[in-house]
Amino acid sequence: MINVRNIDVKYGSETALAGLSLNVERNSTCAIIGPSGCGKTTLLYALAGILKTSSGRIEINGSELSHIRPNTGLILQNYGLLPWKTVWNNLAFPLKTRSVSKTEIRERVGSTLDILGIGEFSKKYPDELSGGQKQRVAIARSLVLKPDLLLMDEASSALDAITKEQIQDLILDIYKKNKMTLVFVTHNIEEAVFLGQKIVVMNSGEISKTIHNPCFELENLRTRIEFYQMCLEVRKVLDEDNEKF
Ligand SMILES: Nc1ncnc2c1ncn2[C@@H]1O[C@H](COP(=O)(O)OP(=O)(O)OP(=O)(O)O)[C@@H](O)[C@H]1O
Ligand SMILES: [Mg+2]
Repeated sequence: MINVRNIDVKYGSETALAGLSLNVERNSTCAIIGPSGCGKTTLLYALAGILKTSSGRIEINGSELSHIRPNTGLILQNYGLLPWKTVWNNLAFPLKTRSVSKTEIRERVGSTLDILGIGEFSKKYPDELSGGQKQRVAIARSLVLKPDLLLMDEASSALDAITKEQIQDLILDIYKKNKMTLVFVTHNIEEAVFLGQKIVVMNSGEISKTIHNPCFELENLRTRIEFYQMCLEVRKVLDEDNEKF
């Protein structure tokens, strides 16, 4: 699905990503974790086609990424909701701009709100919602476009521990029910292990290690010892990196 070959991304003269390569298979999940400023968001934006690479190549489904793909959903760190539109209209708006018929908009917005358990908030404005509710609306807004690739930046970082786990459960559920590839950025080791089939550890604009996660999708994962062993393995890689740099 995603084939990143030796890309550099620069902000002016500062190099944010240096010679980075990454493969993500279709219908799999990939967590990106690493210290603040290591280039996680930059990588996500490059995959979204928002930031241009200064060298190297990004292919998605075999073709070179040269613009923002209509089938890529992007969920930003600050939810990216339109404050002047109701929840319903936040979801309907991207469909309207794509000339989807009124009947289909009604169906798709209604069913997506139901799946995310936020139907009752459809007439509210984003400012009237809690963090967890806003995050659900942000996820709904991406899903309503039926993406084959979903990119998420720190989807649960602003949430308390319980809500964080609820959102993680919801994301896993959505991933299982819809065929899609999921690439997400997180600061949270447990989230990386819970949601990431592959865990990519970044440092200073490069990938320092890619870890295959055999625990992914195991039943009741958070209650299993393998889960915590995997978390320790990821922590060790992060700590070793921290000592190196
Ligand atoms: N718009 C910008 N202009 C100039 N430099 C930038 C810009 N955005 C990011 N950078 C720099 O690029 C590097 C990578 O930033 P990036 O936002 O990708 O990091 P991050 O891993 O997402 O960090 P965080 O975990 O804090 O969100 C940092 O050194 C940052 O200062
Ligand atoms: Mg970031």
